[in-house]
Amino acid sequence: MGDSPMLEQSLAALESDALARIQAARSPEELEPVRIEVLGRKGNLAQVSKEMGRLPAEERAAVGKLLNAAKQALEEAIEVRKREFAQAALQARLEGEWLDLTLPPPGAPRGHLHPITQIQREIEELFVSLGFAVLDGPEVETEHHNFDALNIPPDHPARDLQDTFWLKDGHLLRTHTSPVQVRGMEKLGPPLRMIAPGRVFRNESVDASHEHTFYQLEGMMIDREVSVAHLTYFMKTMLTAIFRREVTVRLRPGYFPFVEPGFELDIRCLICGGAGCPVCKQSGWVEQLGCGLVHPNVLRLSGIDPEEWNGFAFGLGLTRLVMMRYAIDDIRLLQSGDLRFSHQF
Ligand code: DAH
Repeated sequence: MGDSPMLEQSLAALESDALARIQAARSPEELEPVRIEVLGRKGNLAQVSKEMGRLPAEERAAVGKLLNAAKQALEEAIEVRKREFAQAALQARLEGEWLDLTLPPPGAPRGHLHPITQIQREIEELFVSLGFAVLDGPEVETEHHNFDALNIPPDHPARDLQDTFWLKDGHLLRTHTSPVQVRGMEKLGPPLRMIAPGRVFRNESVDASHEHTFYQLEGMMIDREVSVAHLTYFMKTMLTAIFRREVTVRLRPGYFPFVEPGFELDIRCLICGGAGCPVCKQSGWVEQLGCGLVHPNVLRLSGIDPEEWNGFAFGLGLTRLVMMRYAIDDIRLLQSGDLRFSHQF
C-alpha cells in the first residue's frame, strides 16, 4: 500500500468541509471565494491532483475516479446554491412590486397658501367681523385715483418717474392701495367701512429690503364724529390679532397728503419688550403703518361733505408684516417662487 488511503481520506474530508461551506455561504459574494479555494486552478482539488501524480499507476486510477466524483459533486453544489440565490433575489423583487389594487390611491401632495395670502386672509376675517367690506381695485390706475383724488399735489415727489411706473397712455401701476379708498367712496358713499388688500408697484432698485412689487392693505372708515381714539382702537385690535398677543401702540406725527392729522404708528418691540435690541434699532419701538384722519379735501374730491362726515384711514405693508412675523431678512424670497422657501409656512 502506498499513499492512496491517506489521500482518499483527506479528499473525503475536503469534500465534506467544502460542501458545508457552500451551504453556509449567504450570498454570491460569499460563495465565490469558496469556489476559488476549492475548485480554482491552484485550489484544494488541484493540489490533490498534483499529489496523485506521485502514486503508483494502479492506485492512481482509483483516486482519480474519486477526485473526479468529488469535483463534480462540488461543482453541482455550487450551481444549486447559485440558483437558490437567484431565486431568492427574484422573490425579494416580487415582494417589493406587490401592489394591492383595492387600496385607495395615496392622494396628490397638497399645497398651501402663500404666507402673504395667509396673513391677508386673517386680517380680512377680522375686519369682516367688525363690519368692514373687502374691496378690490385695479392695478393699472388713473393718475386721478392714485394721486389727485388723494390730495397729492402735482409736484409731489411720489409722482416722480423714479417711484412710479408710468404707462404710455397716462395710466400708471398703482403705487399704493390708497386709490381703492377713492373707489370705495365713489361707489359706496358714507358711512363706509372698507379694507383693500392688494399688489402695488414702485420703480425701485431691488435689494434685500426693496421690491418693485409688494403687497399692502388699506383701510378706511367714514362716519359721523370719528376720532383718533377710534383709529387707535382698530389699529390695536388688528395688530394684537396679527401678532397673536397684546401690543402697545403709539402714534407719532407723520405726513401723508391724504390725512390730517397724519401719523406713523409704532408698536412696542415684541422682541425686547421695549428695552432696546437690534430689531428695534435700540429704540424700543417698531414702525408698523401710516394712518390718520381723512383729509377734508379727500372727502370733498369724492363728493362727501366734510362738514357732515369724517373718518380715519390706514395703510400697512403686508409684505413687511410677513417678514416681521417670520423674521425673514430678504424681501426677494417672498416672490422667488422657490418651493424650498414657501414650503416652510
Ligand atoms: N399710502 C401710504 C403708503 O403707501 C400708506 C398710508 C398712509 C395709507 C397713511 C393711508 C394713510 O391710508 O392714512 O405709504
